[in-house]
Amino acid sequence: MAAEKILELKGVYKDFDGVSVVEDFNLYVKKGEFVTFLGPSGCGKTTTLRMIAGFEMPTKGEILLNGKDISSIPPHKRPINTVFQRYALFPHLDVYDNVAFGLKLKKINSGKVNKKGEPILRHLTKQEIDKKVNDALKKVDLEEFEYRDIDTLSGGQQQRVAIARAIVNEPEILLLDEPLGALDLKMRKDMQLELKEMHKKLGITFIYVTHDQEEALTLSDTIVVMNDGCIQQIGTPKDIYDEPVNAFVADFIGESNIYSGTIIDDNHVHFLYHKFECVDKFPKNEKVDVVVRPEDVEIMEKDEGILNAKIVSKIFKGVHYEYILMVGKMELMVQDTTSYDVDTEVGIYVKPFNIQIMNKEFKSNQYIGYLDKYNNLILDSGKLECDITQLLKGSHVDEEGYLVGPDGKIYDLTDADVKVEVGLGDIDIEDGEEGEIVGEIISMVYLGDHYRVIVRTEEEEDFVLDTIYTWNEEDRVSVHIAKEKIKLTLTKEIKEYEKA
Ligand SMILES: Nc1ncnc2c1ncn2[C@@H]1O[C@H](COP(=O)(O)OP(=O)(O)OP(=O)(O)O)[C@@H](O)[C@H]1O
Ligand SMILES: [Mg+2]
Repeated sequence: MAAEKILELKGVYKDFDGVSVVEDFNLYVKKGEFVTFLGPSGCGKTTTLRMIAGFEMPTKGEILLNGKDISSIPPHKRPINTVFQRYALFPHLDVYDNVAFGLKLKKINSGKVNKKGEPILRHLTKQEIDKKVNDALKKVDLEEFEYRDIDTLSGGQQQRVAIARAIVNEPEILLLDEPLGALDLKMRKDMQLELKEMHKKLGITFIYVTHDQEEALTLSDTIVVMNDGCIQQIGTPKDIYDEPVNAFVADFIGESNIYSGTIIDDNHVHFLYHKFECVDKFPKNEKVDVVVRPEDVEIMEKDEGILNAKIVSKIFKGVHYEYILMVGKMELMVQDTTSYDVDTEVGIYVKPFNIQIMNKEFKSNQYIGYLDKYNNLILDSGKLECDITQLLKGSHVDEEGYLVGPDGKIYDLTDADVKVEVGLGDIDIEDGEEGEIVGEIISMVYLGDHYRVIVRTEEEEDFVLDTIYTWNEEDRVSVHIAKEKIKLTLTKEIKEYEKA
C-alpha cells in the first residue's frame, strides 16, 4: 500500500469556554489505514472526531485532507462520514429508508448550467438511490433486510445498518465513534471481526474511537493513545503493548507491573530490591519507571531466579493462572499456565528484553507562585504556608514579617515571584474540601507498593503524589504540604527586594 497521507492534523487545539479539551494534536493517517483513538472517558476522543468531521472547529491548528486545509468545507461536503457513539437510526423507517435518507436529500451536479453559467443541481433518481442503497446493504451483508423495521433487528444488525448509512455516500474516510458500545460482550467480539473484514473489503480509511484497549489492539493498524486531551503515544498495537512510553500507557494497555527503578549501568537496572539485566540504555543513576508484563515473569524453583517471592493469591483465568506474589512489601502479578499452591516460595526470573524501562514522567512538582505580605506562598490554586528563610542563608523573619539577613539587611518579599518545588512524597491528601487547596483525583496508577495519584484543581494545577492509601478517581480531596517540604527559589536576585 502506498504510504499516501489522506488526513493530517497539525497542532490542533480545542477549548470549550477557555477549558482545554484537546491539546497539540499531531497525527497523520495513511490512505486505507485503520487508526484507533484509545483513551479513558472524557479524554477528547469524540471532540477530535467531530473536528475531523467538521461539526466542531479547532481553536487552533490545521486539518488537512489530501494535503488541503478543510476548515472552510462544511461537514456535509467533506468526503467523510460518521457512525455516531449512539447510532441514531430512525425507528419509524425501515432499513432501506434509513440508508436512503441522506441520499434523498442530496443534490448533485446535473451537468447543465443556468443562464448565469452556474451549475444546475438535481436530486438523485429513484434508480440511482436504489443502486447505492443496495450496494451499501450488500457490503454489510444485509441484502435481504431492506424492508425490515429497525426495531425487529438485533443490536449487531442495527449496527450494520448504521454503517451502511455511513458508507452509502462512498466516503473516503469513515469515522466510527464507539460503534460497538451498545452491544453485549459476545456480540461485540463478533462485530469486531466483522468490522475488520469490512475495512479490508471496503478499502476505506477507518478512524475508530474506543476506550476498550483489547478492541483497539485487535482492530487497528495504528493506535493513538490519548489522555486528558493529549496524545501519549502513537504506534502499532505491538509497539504500544511492548514498548509503552510512560506509566499511563503501560497501565492503560493490559495488565502490568510498574515500579520505580534506578539505572545502575548500561545493562542493569535496580527495582524490586534487586539488580536486573536490561537492554534499554539510560544514563547512570537515572530514576526510571520499569514495566514488567505479568506473562513475562517466569516462575522457577526457589533460589534459582533473580529473586525469591511468595505466592499470596491464585485465580484461574481459563487458560492461565493469575498469581499475586510478594517480594518484600512489593506486589508482583504473574500469569502462568502451571499450577502452584498459595504460600509457596518460588524463584522469579525476567528476561532482559522483557524489562521495559521508561522515562519517569514526574520527578517533582514544579510551580510558579509569589509571596504575599504575610509570607504565604500563593499558587493559582490557593495559599500555602512556607518558610522564606530558605531564600537567604542565616536569615530570620522579624516581628513585622520582613526577612533579615545575617548582615542585618532587611528584605520585603511581598509579591516576590518564586519557583516552587515539591517532592512526590511530600504531598498529603485528605477527603473533602476543607483545605486551602482542593481538587479532584484524575489519575491513579499502582506502582507495586504504592499509588501515584494526580490531583487536579479547578485552576488546572496538578499535584502529583505518591501514597500508600487507596483512593478513587473523581474523589474530591484537599491537598496539604508541610511548610518545610516546600522548596522555594526567587526568580530575581534577593538584593532587588532590599528595603530602602
Ligand atoms: N460542546 C461542549 N462544550 C463544553 N465541553 C465539552 C463539549 N463537548 C465536549 N466537552 C468536554 O470535553 C471533554 C472531552 O469530551 P469528549 O466527548 O471528546 O470525550 P471522549 O474521549 O469522547 O469521552 P467518552 O469516552 O466518554 O465518550 C469532556 O470533559 C467534555 O465534557
Ligand atoms: Mg466520546
